[in-house]
Amino acid sequence: MTTTPDMPGLSLVRHPLVQHKLAILRNRDTPTKIFKELVDEIAMLMAYEATADLGLDPCDVETPLERTVGAKVSGKKLVLVPILRAGLGMVDGFLRLIPSARVGHVGLYRDHETLEPVDYYFKIPANAEERQFFILDPMLATGGSAVAAVSRLKASGATRIRFLCLVAAPEGVRRLRATHPDVEIFSAALDRELSASGYILPGLGDAGDRLFGTR
Ligand code: PRP
Ligand code: URA
Repeated sequence: MTTTPDMPGLSLVRHPLVQHKLAILRNRDTPTKIFKELVDEIAMLMAYEATADLGLDPCDVETPLERTVGAKVSGKKLVLVPILRAGLGMVDGFLRLIPSARVGHVGLYRDHETLEPVDYYFKIPANAEERQFFILDPMLATGGSAVAAVSRLKASGATRIRFLCLVAAPEGVRRLRATHPDVEIFSAALDRELSASGYILPGLGDAGDRLFGTR
């Protein structure tokens, strides 16, 4: 994982497997089935990185030979919060590593004219203040959706929030960090810029459409 001095709060997951899979994901000829599998696999590899500093508590274990001390992840259950729709593609990969995590949902879509997020659904587990949240969305473009999702979680009491995406634009990273400087961002790539119509360049296109075949 690497950090860049001019983008504080952004960690880039540079693992070769992630970069290899991301290149296939970007390819316009990659079909929906493969696209979905790759988002799932990259999310799992990113979950490994984004949870590397989780606290541990000691626990007793009886091996077949003797009693020893093991370790278990401490604290309340983690909560994954996919931003609908495209964030859904990252949930199962993450859950494969942390099957006991709870799953909340934030429904947001970008208005095509204004590029501002419109919210239509919100549901997270109770006792938000005691939990660690991971917001999942493949794309961080203008940052409007990410900012809205974090604001909504904070309004419900969440204080520990991380944002995981596959491709980020510099504009989105700056906006999210400027509005919510406490939220760490994990991404597989930091791309060049946003197009005039709000697409990430070079990007991978419309993540939701490619994931669900609605192009
Ligand atoms: C995409 C993407 C993000 C958002 C990013 O969703 O999955 O949620 O755009 O753009 P932003 O950073 O400029 O807000 P979209 O609005 O296309 O909805 P969808 O997932 O339902 O297709
Ligand atoms: N949302 C997407 O799905 N793709 C982009 O490039 C920007 C926003």
